[in-house]
Amino acid sequence: MQSIKAVDLQAQYHAIQSEIDEAVARVLSSGQYLLGAETGKFEAEFSTYSGVAYAAAVGSGTDAIQLALRACEIGPGDEVITIAHTAVACIAAIELSGASPVLVDIDPRSFTIDPEKIEAAVGPRTRAILPVHLYGCPADLEPILDIAQRRNLRVIEDCSQAHGARYHGRPVGSLGHLAAFSFYPTKNLGAMGDGGAVLTNDARLDERVRKLRQYGWRERNCSDIRGVNSRMDEIQAAVLRVKLRHLEEWTERRRALAALYSNGLAGCGVVLPTEPAGSRHVYHQYVIRHTQRDELRSHLAAQGIQTQVHYPVPVHLQSAYRDLPLPPGGLPASECAAREVLSLPMRPEMSAADLAAVCEEISAFSSRQALPPNGLIPV
Ligand SMILES: Cc1ncc(COP(=O)(O)O)c(C=O)c1O
Repeated sequence: MQSIKAVDLQAQYHAIQSEIDEAVARVLSSGQYLLGAETGKFEAEFSTYSGVAYAAAVGSGTDAIQLALRACEIGPGDEVITIAHTAVACIAAIELSGASPVLVDIDPRSFTIDPEKIEAAVGPRTRAILPVHLYGCPADLEPILDIAQRRNLRVIEDCSQAHGARYHGRPVGSLGHLAAFSFYPTKNLGAMGDGGAVLTNDARLDERVRKLRQYGWRERNCSDIRGVNSRMDEIQAAVLRVKLRHLEEWTERRRALAALYSNGLAGCGVVLPTEPAGSRHVYHQYVIRHTQRDELRSHLAAQGIQTQVHYPVPVHLQSAYRDLPLPPGGLPASECAAREVLSLPMRPEMSAADLAAVCEEISAFSSRQALPPNGLIPV
């Protein structure tokens, strides 16, 4: 039977093995393993790529969000607006800063925060908005930045799934006050371990993040502020420098695969992802919707096709977070998305033949659903 993987990190490593091996060997023999020369070069290269003045490498994407908030002196007693249909890390990071998450609904087409829902959630304690560029699709930042300016709020872009995406021609991460990136291994730009970065154009905020990531140190063993340990290690920085050189080519390949999917699945009875006008979607995930998602997923699994569900339970319905306050009317678009979304295999190394096989099986599933219960085609 065929086997089409949802994720294949070994294939990516083998495609660039000599470059990675050389970079890792260089670090091992350098004798410098944390926040060293490789990290400095990666920060410079990634900030240039993202069109932002400063990038501070940290230990993970969760830390990047937490430290971005703490850099703005957001903490206990403050509220941060974000979404429930996202990685639970977003909510965990807000709570790690000491602030409280306030959840609003998503736009069902883009799966990103619905700007029309934000204003009603702003209260006297609100300090920031955390829009998530989910699946690689830029959130609609213009109205979000407008609300933030009028209500004196910070905007921290969560770009963990959107390396290389653009909003009206500008790289994501360059539009808010700060941006958080994750380099978790499966991301479009993924390390071979944990990693993250905080980007900003504000020198003062960058300096605060740099202190916070290492015990608040101004200099060794002298803390200006209370910080944490969230250092990037040199092996990850060296790996990320290699992979950054391939990111544009990989992104173009993801976009080409997405176009093939959208052609191949047209008329198959599934809702296809959209690319908002003026945006560059980078298809971290290619996410379709289907009212019989679980049956479709089982059908594909039986044919050797792996899929994933991002995310099966919105954060406010998870047992750990049932006490979070909800807006009047709840979060219906988030709950509906959790029931219907299905992430199809999407990785730059994927072949067009494998992609065609996925489309064929979805089409076969859909035509079977269209048959009446007795299986006879009406004449
Ligand atoms: C949207 C989003 N935000 C934050 C994170 C947290 O990143 P990390 O796993 O590197 O802590 C992730 C990764 O899972 C993510 O997808």
